[in-house]
Amino acid sequence: MQHTWEEIKRHIMTCTGCPLSRTRHRPVIGRGDYQADIMLIAEAPGAQEDQQGIPFVGRSGEILDNLLRDCALRREEIYITNILKCHPPGNRDPKEEEKEACFPYLKYETFLLKPHVIVCLGRVAAQRIISPDFKITGQHGTWTYRKNCALTATYHPSAILRDPSKYEIARADFEEIVKKRTAQN
Ligand code: URA
Repeated sequence: MQHTWEEIKRHIMTCTGCPLSRTRHRPVIGRGDYQADIMLIAEAPGAQEDQQGIPFVGRSGEILDNLLRDCALRREEIYITNILKCHPPGNRDPKEEEKEACFPYLKYETFLLKPHVIVCLGRVAAQRIISPDFKITGQHGTWTYRKNCALTATYHPSAILRDPSKYEIARADFEEIVKKRTAQN
């Protein structure tokens, strides 16, 4: 069965597929340009995202916006989503069963968007999307290819908040992402 963006949104808004539906305030649906060639995939909404229902509105959102600005990218021209659409209490790592329950939404988002470049933000996304043993420190900025799509990973903005020296590394990764976008188009 095929879904439209509106149908996916409706499913996510009313989803009870895992116990996070009982603790979330609002599901956080992916956001951005439905024609975007770049898709950012992060881990799960934080507490502020849970309140507002919008990805990356908290402090890690400021870091992400700085990275995008430094590479002349705007949120409005990319698509940003998460592996989990609901906030895990206390910001703990997503559980396997939560990732499995939520994965069909990400599959549909990817199917509808057909991005040319996928950027995983952080270990949880990289290990779910690129490879289960992906190591961010050793493998950030490396590229994997699937069909017409180039996939990479860089540090999660919250890792940069904890260790600001990672900002320049992530910025360099984003510069390569912008170049790859041109090469893939
Ligand atoms: N952290 C994430 O992984 N996703 C968000 O949307 C916000 C913070």
